[in-house]
Amino acid sequence: MSYDNTTNRETYKYTQSEGLLQIDDAIKIYKRGKIEVVALRGLTCDFKAGEITVIMGPSGCGKTTLLNMIGGLDRLNSGKIIVNGEDIAQYTDNQVEQYRRKKIGFVFQFMNLIPELTAEENILLPLELSKTLTPQTAQFVDSLLEIVGLTDRKTHRPDELSGGEQQRVSIAAALANNPDIILCDEPTGELDTDSKRVIMALLRSVIEQFPGKTMIIVSHDSELKEIADRMYYIRDGAISHKFSKEDLRELNGETQGEDGLPSSTYRPIDSNRVKEMALLELREVDHYVRDKIEKIEKKLHPV
Ligand SMILES: Nc1ncnc2c1ncn2[C@@H]1O[C@H](COP(=O)(O)OP(=O)(O)OP(=O)(O)O)[C@@H](O)[C@H]1O
Ligand SMILES: [Mg+2]
Repeated sequence: MSYDNTTNRETYKYTQSEGLLQIDDAIKIYKRGKIEVVALRGLTCDFKAGEITVIMGPSGCGKTTLLNMIGGLDRLNSGKIIVNGEDIAQYTDNQVEQYRRKKIGFVFQFMNLIPELTAEENILLPLELSKTLTPQTAQFVDSLLEIVGLTDRKTHRPDELSGGEQQRVSIAAALANNPDIILCDEPTGELDTDSKRVIMALLRSVIEQFPGKTMIIVSHDSELKEIADRMYYIRDGAISHKFSKEDLRELNGETQGEDGLPSSTYRPIDSNRVKEMALLELREVDHYVRDKIEKIEKKLHPV
């Protein structure tokens, strides 16, 4: 009897989970001739609506692969991707395409804008592709331009905009289809510090304004933890570390007790957790720098 109760409770917990998006035992193997690369090695995690999850990890650990799987750009070898209770890994190609167009917004490092189109036209493009133009569309695009602070740049083409402004157009375009899930791959990777801060604030304000959406940001930049609700580290295709909202609040130095006093008065900050984080950040910087050096060396001395 007690066994049954437990089982029922567990089932209930699973089906009623708050997680909008659950990845369960995801495996992705790329094959190049005889060489096999295991990009995702049984990765399991979940993402919640109204939250920003930042994903970090060394180059080649599987971050972009994971985003591509969630975004329906590629398929898993096995495992589940449960979105609002449905496993998209089981979808037909047609269903995946519909899902990608309606539910997903992408923001990439190299802003994926069409150079010949104005800011407004670039934002309209996803709506034209999904044939969801309505008489209210123009007004809607205006409101997206306002959200990203570019009302006065409406008719500018990408080459007439700064890097930060271009990324703001990309974010507006990613929002155009009113997607449930916004996937950002290194959204600040190409930006100077000031533009990066603007984009970080904008991404945060998007999730505050649209709490029904889930945002996942992949980055090498640990500063992004400032806008994160949770953070995952990936190593060799699987989650190696998870940092909760509470962990991040402590790490970002925002601890507060119930009465508003800093909680460190009552609860000492878990120094091991801080050290663990610091170590991960250092490793991240190390990998990032090594990767950059390798790329520059290859350019200088091509074989
Ligand atoms: N289309 C592909 N064909 C073959 N191997 C691939 C393909 N895409 C990715 N890989 C390999 O899968 C692994 C994971 O790649 P992925 O692009 O997900 O890494 P990443 O964590 O995004 O790295 P970075 O931080 O450098 O962007 C890497 O070893 C990569 O070489
Ligand atoms: Mg990548």
